[in-house]
This record gives sequence, structure tokens and C-alpha cells, in this order.
Amino acid sequence: MTIYPKIYVAGHRGMVGSAIVRQLLTQGQPVEHIVTRTHAELELTDQAAVRFFFETEKPDHVYLAAAKVGGIHANTTFPAEFIYQNLMMQANVIDAAFNNGVKKLLLLGSSCIYPKLAPQPMREDALLNGALESTNEPYAIAKIAGIKLCESYNRQYRQSHGVDYRSVMPTNLYGPGDNYHPEYSHVIPALIRRFHEAKVSHAPSITIWGTGTPKREFLYVDDMAAACLHVMNLPQATYQQHTQSTLGHINVGWGDDITIKELAETIARVIGYTGDIAFDPSKPDGTPRKLMDSTRLHALGWHASIGLEAGLVKAYEDFFNQQAAKP
Ligand SMILES: NC(=O)c1ccc[n+]([C@@H]2O[C@H](COP(=O)([O-])OP(=O)(O)OC[C@H]3O[C@@H](n4cnc5c(N)ncnc54)[C@H](OP(=O)(O)O)[C@@H]3O)[C@@H](O)[C@H]2O)c1
Repeated sequence: MTIYPKIYVAGHRGMVGSAIVRQLLTQGQPVEHIVTRTHAELELTDQAAVRFFFETEKPDHVYLAAAKVGGIHANTTFPAEFIYQNLMMQANVIDAAFNNGVKKLLLLGSSCIYPKLAPQPMREDALLNGALESTNEPYAIAKIAGIKLCESYNRQYRQSHGVDYRSVMPTNLYGPGDNYHPEYSHVIPALIRRFHEAKVSHAPSITIWGTGTPKREFLYVDDMAAACLHVMNLPQATYQQHTQSTLGHINVGWGDDITIKELAETIARVIGYTGDIAFDPSKPDGTPRKLMDSTRLHALGWHASIGLEAGLVKAYEDFFNQQAAKP
């Protein structure tokens, strides 16, 4: 008889958390052994509530995919909320997990933990080697603290309590559950919306900010979820062989990047928009390149499998479904 661990997925309604739940179910985890709470049901910044939850539910494993997330606009408008809420959520969950016997935990971070001028592609050891991008520094500092919480609990409690807390740093993600808000969304969902609206209104052309030459990396969220389970389930000795006690995180990327122009052309093709695509070089480009070095992950036996075009087809379906579900 298989004995299944009780797995708590924090943030299960979010883009990443919902993909982790899908992946757990796909890989045979029974739904009754997956524990979830919405934000309304459990406020993760509330230490007492988080402690009570762990004391009563007693999960075996934790995926920490709950976070306050947002783009540049939200990060610059609400920096206090970004640093405070993310620090609190991570500290509360990790400490309550430890105090209730959780041996395995996976923290979700982000590529913004790396210095603004980190050498490309960005390796794990670029962490704390330079100044961060100022616009999301509070969020990045909170995420770095999350990595250090995992490492510190391992260093202090691995021998005595068998603690094994890991962290993964995804590149830009897209796919089901994304946010297609006209002002607050990331580049892929924003372009899906714009190209869709241009197609529907028969607009003859679309103008995109910047030169179209910056390069970015994108990973389909179900690939990300598969990577999370892969990293979580690695034997402890294997994980330790490929990480260090004070450099324990693992990058998760597609492994290659494309220009914004190539991305726009691919999205236009998937959506069926046949008008012109123009670029406005008077608008800022942002950093010329942002690519994760995923060598560590590849050495651990995991590679992404869902290509951009196939992923965009599913993302466009999701956009449609979200639009249809709106009242
Ligand atoms: N999306 C990306 O492109 C991307 C890229 C790199 C890294 N990541 C990382 O992946 C993680 C998840 O991101 P995501 O895109 O899935 O975010 P998301 O879609 O906004 O989901 C965040 C989840 O966190 C929950 N949550 C937020 N604040 C909470 C609180 N105070 N108490 C309890 N629950 C709370 C929300 O619950 P409700 O739904 O109930 O409100 C939601 O389910 C983050 O750490 C992020 O940095 C994401």
C-alpha cells in the first residue's frame, strides 16, 4: 500500500500554486492528501493563524507558492507591502513548518534576486554580488531572506531534526492562471491581450514600446511546476552534491532567450493577427538581456519540455476562458 505524504500548497489559487496542484495530481498524489487554504481562509502574514494551521493540519511537505507579487508599477507604489508581507509569509510558514515536524519544504523565489548588472546568463552564485534593480528591491530582499531562511534552518536543524528546505528561482513564467490586466500584467499576457484586441478590432498595426531587441527567457508554468516536484523529490544527498549550504537555491529556466520582436511575432502567429508590428524606439527598452543559467538544474536531471509556441496556444486558450468567465 502506498503511503502518501500530506502536502500543503500555499498559494494554490495563484498561477504557480495551481500549476503545482495540477502537477501533483498528474503524478498520482491523491487529492485528499493535498491541503490548501485561500488567502481569505488563512492570512499567512498572521503568525498565530499560521501556527494554528500547522498544529492542526500537520502537513508533511510544503510548497510555498504564496506571495504578494506584481509588476514595476505595483512594486514602486506599494514597496512597504511587498517587503513586509513577503517577509512575514515566509518567516511564518517556514518557522511553523519546522516547529510542526515538516521535513521537506520548497520556496518559490524569482530571478529579481540577482544583481541588476549580474553577468548573463545569471548563475546561482551571482546572488549578493552587486546592487539590485531599484524598482523591485524590497520584493527581492524579501525573497533573498526566504532563501536564507531555508539555508539557515537546514544548517541549524538538518542534523538534529532532518530538516531539508529547498528553494527554486524561476525565470519569467506564463500560462494558465496568468494576469491579463491591461496595466499590471507581464509582457506575455499583456501582448496576448493587445494582439487579441487588435485582431478583433481589425487594427492595421500594433506599436510595441522599445526597439524589440532586448532578449528575455520564458517558461510555461506547468514546466515550472514539474521542475518544482523534481527538485522537491531529489534525494537529499543529490541535492547537497549540487548545492552549497550557503548557496542552496536552484535556477529554473527554459535555457535560452528570444528577442521581444521574435516574441511579438510568435504571439501574433498564435493569435492569428495579420497586421503590422511596429516598435517605438523612443520608449525605454529595459535591460538588454535577462537569462537564467540553468546548468545546476540540468545537472540534476531536469529540462523544460513545453516550447514557446505550444505554451502560447494554451495561454491564449486560458485568456479566452478568463474573458468568458467574467460577469
Ligand atoms: N508569475 C511569474 O512570472 C513568476 C516568475 C517568477 C517567480 N514567481 C514566483 O512564484 C510565486 C507565486 O507567484 P504567482 O505568479 O503564482 O502569484 P499569484 O498568481 O499572484 O498567486 C499568489 C498566491 O498567494 C496567495 N497570497 C498572497 N498573499 C497572501 C497572504 N497574505 N496570505 C495568504 N495567501 C496569500 C494568493 O491567494 P488567493 O488566491 O487566495 O488570493 C495567491 O494564491 C511567487 O513567489 C513569485 O515570486 C512567479
